[in-house]
Amino acid sequence: MAIPSSLVTLLLGMALVLIGLWVGQNVNLLPLDASSNAPVYDDLFRVLFVIGTILFIGIVGLVIFSLIRFRRREGDDGDGLPIEGNLPLEIVWTAIPAVVVLFVGIYSYDIYERMGGMAPLNDHSAHMAHQAQLMAVQQASTGSPSGGEPSRVWGGIGPLDPAEEALPVEVTAMQFAFLFRYPGSDILSGELHVPSDRPVELRMEAKDVIHAFWVPQFRLKQDVIPGQTTVLTFTPTRPGSYPIVCAELCGPYHGGMRSTVVVHEPEDFEAWVQRNAPAPSPPATVASAAVTPVA
Ligand code: CUA
Repeated sequence: MAIPSSLVTLLLGMALVLIGLWVGQNVNLLPLDASSNAPVYDDLFRVLFVIGTILFIGIVGLVIFSLIRFRRREGDDGDGLPIEGNLPLEIVWTAIPAVVVLFVGIYSYDIYERMGGMAPLNDHSAHMAHQAQLMAVQQASTGSPSGGEPSRVWGGIGPLDPAEEALPVEVTAMQFAFLFRYPGSDILSGELHVPSDRPVELRMEAKDVIHAFWVPQFRLKQDVIPGQTTVLTFTPTRPGSYPIVCAELCGPYHGGMRSTVVVHEPEDFEAWVQRNAPAPSPPATVASAAVTPVA
């Protein structure tokens, strides 16, 4: 062969990486990005797509090449080459995936943290002290576990900046609907209405079985569990209407358990609150809607 095979391999590898990068830049499989954490999520998706493309083309290409190049020739009845192993090769093909997996793991963790996945959730002052008492009350009574105040925060995506004033919304999931209550203004709604560019804190609890709150355009999904509050904080960035989908098989009509989140411009949201507040009281309603609920 005129060209050394190591050079061919190097050139093919470079072409492969360039193709992977090109595909990753041009992949367009995700829906609209409508929350502040969508761009970082999409970056991770692109990186994974680049790695996946390189691996897919590399492996499938090598298999097809080998099938053709090393096929049995006519009249060749001999055995194959007795290859007993190749230590450097084995080290390389162990080390490369290890580095890739480690990189993806650390990168994913970093993004989860940037979304608020590591933020402390249960810092609403009275909660901890209240918890044992509440549990005792709940165990004693057979009443509904979600009696007004959340008993315990189970997990979720928290606020990135606890100082930032988030709009609190209480979410109740049941077979087969989501209900949204705005503690500040006592609005009860079947649709979630939120202003853009302001953090929203959902405190979610299920009435019956496990559901999951999912908004693909926000790149967020969080389980909703009976008896245990979960939190989901996000900042919508793009006014519009997006689907809320239940993403946990919760019964025969699970597929129909959908709602809508309407992201308003801030002024339009205030107008919506005013229109829908049960007792028509001017700006005070809006102002109190902004305060985090007393747990
Ligand atoms: Cu609720 Cu599926």
